[in-house]
Amino acid sequence: MKSCSVLVACKLPDEVEQDIAAHLDADFMADARSRPLPELVARLDGRDALILLAMTPVDADFIAALPASVKTIATYSVGLDHIDLAAARARGLAVLHTPDVLTDAVAETALLLLLGAARRATESIDLIRSGAWQGWSPTQLVGVELTGKTLGILGMGRIGQGIAERARAFGMQITYHNRKPLAPELAKGAVHQADAMAFLGAIDALAIACPLTEETRGFLNAERIAAMRPGALVVNIARGPVVDDDALIAALESGHVRAAGLDVFTNEPKLDPRYLDLPNAFLLPHIGSSTVESRRAMGRTLIDGLTALADGRDPPNRVA
Ligand code: DGY
Repeated sequence: MKSCSVLVACKLPDEVEQDIAAHLDADFMADARSRPLPELVARLDGRDALILLAMTPVDADFIAALPASVKTIATYSVGLDHIDLAAARARGLAVLHTPDVLTDAVAETALLLLLGAARRATESIDLIRSGAWQGWSPTQLVGVELTGKTLGILGMGRIGQGIAERARAFGMQITYHNRKPLAPELAKGAVHQADAMAFLGAIDALAIACPLTEETRGFLNAERIAAMRPGALVVNIARGPVVDDDALIAALESGHVRAAGLDVFTNEPKLDPRYLDLPNAFLLPHIGSSTVESRRAMGRTLIDGLTALADGRDPPNRVA
């Protein structure tokens, strides 16, 4: 008999759904987000756990509405900003997420964004696809190199460290802004800068890799952008609201920020439409962890975590 009974309230890749069905007693409700909450609650009744996405806000009201049988919320994401962890703990719910297994994919995406911003990928793609390309020219779409530049990483957790590792291979120096400095074996020579303004003034490119919290919401505002070197690059693979869109858009328009590479936005998928008119904005539709390898491993991480909880063990991907 399967040890955990779960409602999967989202559409996952077929292979992941098959893996879940093979290991857990699973019911699948792919369109749960478009259904009224009472319908979800009725389907959940009697089940131990709920698997959902970061796009489903799990606030105190949602948690209060869950049937008593539900003991675990498992989010198919590393991000936890959509979950009221205090309310989950107060209710005695376990919360699982998917750390580590998507680090490489997201770090690779950060490098894609950095390169796309530095080398004017949006304009290049537009030029060739529009048929307007006139051939090679020394003045055409001149970008900047990453080699020899300083990358500032906001949030030097697992993903931040993955970005640093890859950026070093491009000949970049790394500095980072975190509440606490990392142990030397994790920092690998990256310089910790505790002061946000000094950090921003010392870098040629900023990679945002921190979780969205009340502390980081709106971090990249007009005042902080003004502290950045003229012509710096900005990359965001974390969460849109870490950036103040008005401030970043104004800086992209003025050129104070040379270019931005963004995979995440406030109010996805309805991003601020002004980004779409900016040739120096290289935009991706939140595909940071979207690889075959990550998707498969994210599913496996939740299966293992739910199985461990059902067996009375404490899984490493439990946060509450
Ligand atoms: C994550 O894993 O947090 C991704 O951003 C998808 O939600």
